[in-house]
Order: sequence, then C-alpha cells, then structure tokens
Amino acid sequence: MARPLPPILRAPWSADAVDPSPPAAEAIDRAVEILKRGGLVAIPTETVYGLAADALDAEAVAGIFRAKGRPSTNPIIVHVADVAMAMSLAGQWPAAAEAIATRFWPGPVTVVVPRGPRIPDIVTAGGATVALRCPAHPLARRLIADSGLPLAAPSANRSEAVSPTTAHHVLESLGNRIDLILDGGPCAKGIESTVIDCTTSPPRILRPGPLSRAELERAVGGPVAWPEATEAEGPLRSPGQQARHYAPKTPLEMRADASDRVAALVGEGRRVGWLTSRTDDPDVRRLAASRDLLIVPMPADPESFATRLYATLHALDQRQLDCIVVDEPPDTETWRAVRDRLHRAATR
Ligand code: TXA
Ligand code: MG
Repeated sequence: MARPLPPILRAPWSADAVDPSPPAAEAIDRAVEILKRGGLVAIPTETVYGLAADALDAEAVAGIFRAKGRPSTNPIIVHVADVAMAMSLAGQWPAAAEAIATRFWPGPVTVVVPRGPRIPDIVTAGGATVALRCPAHPLARRLIADSGLPLAAPSANRSEAVSPTTAHHVLESLGNRIDLILDGGPCAKGIESTVIDCTTSPPRILRPGPLSRAELERAVGGPVAWPEATEAEGPLRSPGQQARHYAPKTPLEMRADASDRVAALVGEGRRVGWLTSRTDDPDVRRLAASRDLLIVPMPADPESFATRLYATLHALDQRQLDCIVVDEPPDTETWRAVRDRLHRAATR
C-alpha cells in the first residue's frame, strides 16, 4: 500500500531569536520523536536540505539509502551539535579538524577524520574515516541538541538529482518515502558544504563548497590541497562521488560560447533555458525576442549565483525545455564550487 505524503511542518525561526517560535518548537518535538524511533526527517540546513536519521542506528541509516536510491558505497555526513559531539564520534581529532571546526562551525564545512567505534559501518560505507559537520541552521542545531542524536544526513533528494534548497523540492523528489519534512525556508548558501579530508598532510579538499580554500588555509595556518583530479579526469578520493551528480532532468551544457550555442539551438527549433548574467549584452537582447528561449538572469557574483543555482534548475525542470545552457563562469578560485556543480550537472 502506498504511504501517505509526509507532513510539511512550517518551522519559522527569525534570525535574531534565541529560541524557536511555538510552531517551530512543536515541529522539533515531532521530529525528535520520529528520529528516536528510527524514522526519516528532512531538515533545513544553511547549505541544502538534508535527509536525517539517527547516525548511531544502522537500520535507520539503511532507510536513508533506500529512500534516496543511494549506492551503499557512498558514505554519509554525520551532523553534530558541537565540537564535543564530533570528538565523541572520531577515532582521532586531527589538529586541522580542530582548527577548522573552531573557526567555522557552525557552518558549511565538513571534516573527514578517523572514525570512532560508535559509528556503524553503513554510515562510512565500511571506510576508516567519518565525515562530520555542525550545520548553522538554528532548526538543525536545536534538533540535534534536543534529541542528543548525531544525525546522518545526505542531501534530501533521490540519488543523482539536484539537491533541494526548499521544503517543496524535498517533497517533489522524495515524496512518500520519508516521514516528515521540516520547512525552515530556503537555504542561504544553496550548494553543499565544502568537504575537507583532515587525515592527510596537507589536508585536502574533496568537494569544493561555500568555504574557499583560502579561508581554510588561513584557519589551518598552512597549505590545503585541491582534489587530486576532477571527476571528469579521474577518480576522486571521496568515495562514492560519481561524476554524474546534481543533474537536472533537462540536459544541461556549460558553454564559453553560450550566445552562439543558444542561437544555434533556437535556430533548430529547440526550446532553451539560458542562465546568464549578461542580460545587457546585445547578443542576449537580440535572442531574447525568440519564443523558444527562456532567459534566466543570474547574479554575477559566485555566492549569490550558488544560492540561486539549484532552485533555478528545479524550476526549469518543470518547463518542458529541450535543453539548458549556462554561461561558463570564470576559471577562478572563487567560482570553483559553482563550476564543480555545473560540470556534474552537465555530465550525462
Ligand atoms: O552541505 C552538505 O554537506 C549537505 C547537508 C545536508 O549537510 N549534505 C550533503 O551530503 O551534501 P551528501 O551525502 O549529498 O554528500 C556527502 C559527500 C559525498 O560526496 C561523500 O562522498 C562525502 O561527502 N563523504 C561522506 N563521508 C565521507 C568520508 N568518510 N570520506 C570521504 N568523503 C565522504
Ligand atoms: Mg547529495
């Protein structure tokens, strides 16, 4: 028998409030109950929505893999309330992890450290390390603190789909596969956390994200390495990271020659969505008259671009387009995380 759709509980929490509003407090209580009995709750974080379960309950975590259709080789990030909880789950707590957590938590960075004995195999995909993050969204933090549970939480989407940045994205992707959705509003950062391996010297970024390499280098007081190879070029150390990931259903291309490409596609009678920051460009204005073209103005700075990217892709996926074209962003460090996501979105 089909399960019903999960309730979406609105849980407003204004930025300056220390304690949750009454509806948010009630929603947190419901979520705690569900998590304690091994259920699945979608939660807001500052990066993307996560699909949470008790990280210490192997059966509950198995439910995450089933709901997402996630390969069992892909380990899951464990969300903690603070550094003390992180240390209680780690086998060792490297100096780089301490420096990064102290400087940036709660925040959009995940540290990979040696795993402690409390973490079930299924969380780490059998590996010797565990990924830990303290999220900045007040709802997520209060949920972890109130339940006392570390929460295993990958992004709350079906495997390989675009990560959710609103409660409705979660409902569309996971629907009746989960028990509850906490709606804490749209995510501020909009792309997944920076993942950094602190078991190597120097520490190495496994997934670029909202926190830049320069910021991480300042915190650790030394060099931080990039991934050994991009997904397109070869295997990454981050286990289970597939090249095709974060992809919309509509085929997507990242192009340096976007105007020419869009003109050609429209010329062939294709319906095209074009993500561009150059809305004043004469090329863009000329093409804008075409009925088969939807121009989506995007911010010109990387942080705002990231905040909007997934919501834009989710929206375009509803429009029956033949293809999405994105202006290639500059090949600079500040655009690295956005370029990484666009590369993956373009991989079929
Ligand atoms: O912002 C985020 O990180 C979001 C929110 C919900 O916190 N979570 C997220 O989870 O993006 P997920 O599962 O979609 O991505 C987790 C990434 C994967 O690339 C995985 O390979 C890597 O973290 N990862 C997890 N555990 C790891 C480990 N022990 N060693 C190396 N990489 C690991
Ligand atoms: Mg994901």
